[in-house]
Amino acid sequence: MANAMHPAALSAFAQSLPEKPLHESAGGYEFEFQRSPDSIQVTAERGTDRASGTIHWVLGAGAQGETPLIATAAGTLESRISFFPQLPRYGITIGQHAADSTSAQAALGRLQTREMLAQCLGCHATAVTRDLEPVVPGVQCQRCHAGAEAHLANPAAHHPVNPGKLSAPAQVEFCGTCHRFRLSGPPDAIENVRFQPYRLAMSRCFSSGKLSCTTCHAAHQDARRNDNAFYNQRCVSCHTQPHRSGDCISCHMPRVQLHPALAFTDHYIR
Ligand code: HEC
Ligand code: HEC
Ligand code: HEC
Ligand code: HEC
Ligand code: HEC
Ligand code: HEC
Repeated sequence: MANAMHPAALSAFAQSLPEKPLHESAGGYEFEFQRSPDSIQVTAERGTDRASGTIHWVLGAGAQGETPLIATAAGTLESRISFFPQLPRYGITIGQHAADSTSAQAALGRLQTREMLAQCLGCHATAVTRDLEPVVPGVQCQRCHAGAEAHLANPAAHHPVNPGKLSAPAQVEFCGTCHRFRLSGPPDAIENVRFQPYRLAMSRCFSSGKLSCTTCHAAHQDARRNDNAFYNQRCVSCHTQPHRSGDCISCHMPRVQLHPALAFTDHYIR
């Protein structure tokens, strides 16, 4: 989570850029990227229609995907081009339409209102200025442990918040401030599988009041990928006499492929 946002130059997006320009499609806009030590200049062009902007920040740790923010005269855009390290390939950002763009400006990306940008950075950064310039990118200690800075300055006088002390439901809600706990859309929509707190809260296991995110994840580590045995161990800590042995996860928490580059684990245990 600490790497949920990078300066442009440090991103896999920057480091994997090919020599040749990228294209939306054979007849679509062409994208040219020029790297400098602290930013990437991007230009979208088709015929005489041309627009450009500057990338200072790239969002996403790289486990699933990386999407730049593009600064332009018109405001900040969510780039239309993302990098998907697992494929590994550049492609259209998830949530944006796949058809060719109608203008060079639209080909660069989707304009973010101030409110959208504030939300985006609220989940991917720890501190931003009033003008929404990131000061502390990524999800750092003090984002979860409010008061960590005061504690550093005077350890005896100030104790940081520890979300580990929350009740299980309150902790799931806390992690859900970013991973999302409440949703406005239709509850059955397949896209919801990416919102683990929301899905977990639908489970009967959760209604026990004892199941939290940290039952299965260490808060300071990435998810343990492809280690079902570890998670199965968590299941049988409560279900001491399961109806069968074997790989609980593969049947009760299946992976759902939302996009060729993005798979999520269904946290609705049923
Ligand atoms: C301030 C927002 C925020 C909070 C609060 C937060 N997360 Fe995250 N978390 C993120 C973001 C953003 C990512 C995605 C990083 C990426 O892949 O780009 C992430 C990624 C993760 C990952 C996956 C890392 C991987 O293996 O790909 C896990 C597991 C996780 N968070 C668990 C938790 C838990 C547990 C809590 C509560 C204790 C929590 N998070 C609270 C923002 C947050
Ligand atoms: C409500 C909090 C929230 C907001 C707002 C948000 N993100 Fe995220 N984002 C997350 C979390 C949490 C993850 C981790 C998803 C996971 O691995 O389960 C994530 C993952 C990502 C990823 C990795 C690829 C993927 O789709 O999982 C990218 C790229 C990304 N976000 C970009 C953005 C951009 C760009 C914006 C704003 C335009 C934005 N996010 C707004 C919380 C948020
Ligand atoms: C995503 C939220 C999150 C982030 C970011 C985070 N922590 Fe934690 N931290 C937790 C949770 C949740 C616990 C409780 C651990 C548990 O129950 O497994 C915890 C526990 C701790 C503890 C143990 C406290 C105790 O009373 O035992 C320390 C120390 C700690 N964190 C320090 C840090 C430091 C230092 C950083 C930054 C490098 C950091 N944390 C970043 C969520 C977070
Ligand atoms: C913190 C304890 C706890 C953990 C950990 C836990 N469960 Fe549960 N689970 C429960 C409780 C309590 C119920 C409700 C039992 C009841 O009402 O009879 C339940 C119910 C269920 C149900 C029935 C759901 C339904 O809709 O009827 C399934 C299936 C299940 N758990 C599977 C799992 C699996 C698989 C894991 C591991 C991935 C797991 N559980 C981890 C406590 C837990
Ligand atoms: C009963 C165990 C269990 C609990 C509880 C649990 N997870 Fe997971 N989580 C998993 C498993 C299993 C995976 C898949 C690991 C892999 O990729 O092999 C996973 C993966 C993830 C990922 C990586 C993206 C994905 O969806 O595959 C994130 C982020 C995540 N969990 C966040 C959370 C958050 C936030 C909570 C609390 C709401 C939570 N998890 C509670 C078992 C659990
Ligand atoms: C091959 C797929 C599969 C595997 C592996 C599996 N389950 Fe299930 N489980 C099911 C199905 C299907 C049901 C509902 C029908 C039934 O009860 O057999 C179920 C029902 C349950 C229930 C609710 C009914 C009950 O008996 O209490 C729980 C709890 C449960 N499983 C836990 C587990 C745990 C824990 C594991 C791992 C040790 C596990 N399951 C492994 C498929 C599986």
